[in-house]
Amino acid sequence: MLLDEMQLKDKTIVVIDVLRASTSVITALHHGAKEIIPVSNVESVVKISSSLFGGLTLRAGERNAKIIEGFNLGNSPGEYTEEIVKGKSIIFLTTNGSAAIVKGRHAKNLMVAGFVNLSAVVSFLAEAQTDFEIICAGKENNFCLEDAVCAGRIINKLIDVSDLDCLMDDAGLAAVSLDKTLGKNIHRLLKNSEHGRYLSEIGFSDDLKVCAEVDSLDTLPLLNGSVLRSQKNIRQQS
Ligand code: MLT
Repeated sequence: MLLDEMQLKDKTIVVIDVLRASTSVITALHHGAKEIIPVSNVESVVKISSSLFGGLTLRAGERNAKIIEGFNLGNSPGEYTEEIVKGKSIIFLTTNGSAAIVKGRHAKNLMVAGFVNLSAVVSFLAEAQTDFEIICAGKENNFCLEDAVCAGRIINKLIDVSDLDCLMDDAGLAAVSLDKTLGKNIHRLLKNSEHGRYLSEIGFSDDLKVCAEVDSLDTLPLLNGSVLRSQKNIRQQS
């Protein structure tokens, strides 16, 4: 992703990877995972695993959308059930999504967004009343449609629910119009998208349905130090 980490320093950042990293992270925290530890390489997984208590730690992630050898979980949101993740620390490594989150680690506020937690994200931004940047994880440094439409939906919904005056850059303007044109049927959008077609080909078509369920999870993952926790848990701890 063509972004310099220092560009994101002290900013409010929304990271989007609809298929599927955002949706898996939101689902895991919604089902009671203690924390998600985003990393961008396997070496970090090994290093962190050795420093944490094995019984309460899971290694999760994918390469080419398939589970990484030796890991406990892949990147299908359906795998992150309460039974498996409750109370666990999850070391999370994916191709685009976790890398984008790691890039934003110097941000003032970093939240993870997908279609499943849209309103939770918009509520945070409406309350924060501050400039924000949306980072679309994309696909190996390339544009991906579903992330852009989700970004557009967040902006359109924020304009609807708040009196915020949203001044957008060209990418933002493009995203809001993509949402207006292609956002009418999110499941169809995901089925037609490049990564959606690939996921269906390799047997993950059910994931598209789950990732398309707008506002199915009212959980907002926020970066808290170097780990992601749900906004609810962070508030309970403070
Ligand atoms: C990613 O982070 O690259 C994606 O979530 C990959 C995937 O679909 O598993």
